[in-house]
Amino acid sequence: MNNDRLDKLVNKLIIATDPAEVVSLYAEWAERYDSDLDEFGYVAPQIAIEAFTPLVMDKNALIYDAGCGTGTVGKLLGEQGYNNIVGADFSDEMRKLAEKFDAYTRLEYADYGKAVDIKDDTYDAIISVGVYTARFEGVFLREMLRILKPGRPFLFSCRPHYFDGDVEPQLGTLKDEGLIAKIDIEDKPYMLKQQANAYYITLHKP
Ligand SMILES: C[S@@+](CC[C@H](N)C(=O)[O-])C[C@H]1O[C@@H](n2cnc3c(N)ncnc32)[C@H](O)[C@@H]1O
Repeated sequence: MNNDRLDKLVNKLIIATDPAEVVSLYAEWAERYDSDLDEFGYVAPQIAIEAFTPLVMDKNALIYDAGCGTGTVGKLLGEQGYNNIVGADFSDEMRKLAEKFDAYTRLEYADYGKAVDIKDDTYDAIISVGVYTARFEGVFLREMLRILKPGRPFLFSCRPHYFDGDVEPQLGTLKDEGLIAKIDIEDKPYMLKQQANAYYITLHKP
């Protein structure tokens, strides 16, 4: 693996503040994304699915995969028998690659830096793996709770520096506002080769 290429790309993604730059970095990365992450030992989709599936017993549940990328999460959910999955991402190139799994009933554009064009209380469950970034600036978690049906779960992964940064305070605010009934947090592997863990956080909507 050309670590230098990948390190540079990932570093650019971490510091990028302009959404257009992030879109273009993912466009550049899309074709090699799966093989690069395999080499990194990226296990977040598998770990997230292990936590998510016991929360969603109905295989016909309408599931939203926020930041579906190349479709790994949809593929794994499909293998578990889920058949009503919508994938969304702001990268056309990543979404295009997600089509190959045939796991999604629909793939659509969404930008989580702003409010999404989805009605309140739409989804039975939401999953978002490897997507959370400080660029979401407080919009994303609130929006996912808004489009989730009452009483349902929203699971997302979150690297520790984001959790310690803006996520923990946001969760406090959302809970104080009565928008979250319960929060479950698990600290589990994320990238095996980097020995990096992430938090897998489930928000239960009241
Ligand atoms: C690291 S990939 C994770 C993809 C997939 N969930 C997985 O686990 O393999 C992050 C994805 O989030 C998408 N993304 C990043 N920022 C976004 C934003 N503001 N709006 C929508 N999608 C975004 C990227 O295009 C990319 O496909």
